[in-house]
Amino acid sequence: MSKQNFYKVLKAELKRVDEAKVAKRNEKIIEGFTGGSFPKALIKGKKYSIFNSNDYLGLRFAKELRQGEEAASKKYGSGPGAVRFISGTFDLYRQLEKTVAKFHQREEGMVFSSAFAANLAVIACLSKGQSKDSLVLADTLIISDELNHRSIIDGVRVAGLSKEQKLIYKHLDYDSLEQVLRENLGKFKRVLVITDGIFSMLGEYADIGKLEKICDKYDRQFEEGIFLIADDSHGVGACGRNGRGCEELSSGKSDLLVGTFGKAFGSDGGYAVGDKILIDYLRESAATYIYSNSVSPGVAGAALAALKLVDSAKGRKLLRNLRKNINHFKKLMKEKGFVFAAESIHPIQPILIAEPVRTKALTDELYKRGYLVTNINYPVVPKGKDEIRVQISAAQNRKDIEKFVKEAGEAWQRVNG
Ligand SMILES: Cc1ncc(COP(=O)(O)O)c(C=O)c1O
Repeated sequence: MSKQNFYKVLKAELKRVDEAKVAKRNEKIIEGFTGGSFPKALIKGKKYSIFNSNDYLGLRFAKELRQGEEAASKKYGSGPGAVRFISGTFDLYRQLEKTVAKFHQREEGMVFSSAFAANLAVIACLSKGQSKDSLVLADTLIISDELNHRSIIDGVRVAGLSKEQKLIYKHLDYDSLEQVLRENLGKFKRVLVITDGIFSMLGEYADIGKLEKICDKYDRQFEEGIFLIADDSHGVGACGRNGRGCEELSSGKSDLLVGTFGKAFGSDGGYAVGDKILIDYLRESAATYIYSNSVSPGVAGAALAALKLVDSAKGRKLLRNLRKNINHFKKLMKEKGFVFAAESIHPIQPILIAEPVRTKALTDELYKRGYLVTNINYPVVPKGKDEIRVQISAAQNRKDIEKFVKEAGEAWQRVNG
């Protein structure tokens, strides 16, 4: 019977999220997609144009990925069978790891079930050091951008460091990072500086080149140096002329790069790339890799096909189309009087509405007109920065963008009228 009391606690929490209008569990249920180059989602039999997907190149319906997926499932079966060290791994996974490492010009790569799982493991493992025959917490300081993704925040929590060992710098403010470093010179053996590549709420990007220089500047002041980790899950495959993400945009290189195949690459699963010694160490210590299945062979086959596609003339053309779509969208929206919450060159385009009621009303009005966009409110963004997050894709064409902007203008008038 006392279980009923526990359920009361759960019920109270569900009531709280419902009343605060921040419930996420009533997801829209997509029954399928139309065909065509920009497939529409079918919801309760009605067609919706998707302007809120991370599939930035439109690859999830690409024939190359489906062929890769089918060939892999046929050869290796539907599931991995066991975690990799138990009954052997597939050459397909190794090929995917070598290909993604080469794509990012790194020595080695490692596939995780998701980028979230990669961050949980990477941050905890790189905070540790050796003591006799086991790993223990090392004398590590983590310095993290204050708006980093939840998977990084949780990675830092899982690492189990003390309060003094977990510091943040102001969002994208590298003077603030330098200040934190200066205040801690010589106090710790090792420093991990961690940032998102693209920040997914506003589409802003970290200047990896600048971060690299700062890390180099203070590196010698710490016995084991400063280590730069970037999670560019939204950037890889989506920005830079060659799809290398923020590193390409800012001419820099992190010591360890985390990415996902689940966004621009149109498949699923996460990865980390870096020096071979790092990856060897992570394979020995990363709990979400050792004790959890990898992605399925089909998913790995699709991811491999996506990497090859992005790294080809066809991929570069898709990236060019994507940039053209982004520029066209921004120009037309500004002409309609819309204001952007940030000047983003990424497919994530945040339309500033500044208060929650009209943000929701505009999202609902666009939904009635057959468009999927996302409303983002406090506490995900600061109060007064409520936005409609629109995500552009290379699968859209000029007409799709123009039609969206027209509908958005009319919907906005209706909301205000
Ligand atoms: C910076 C960042 N890291 C990780 C993730 C999660 O990626 P995955 O779905 O592969 O776990 C996201 C997705 O929202 C992200 O924005």
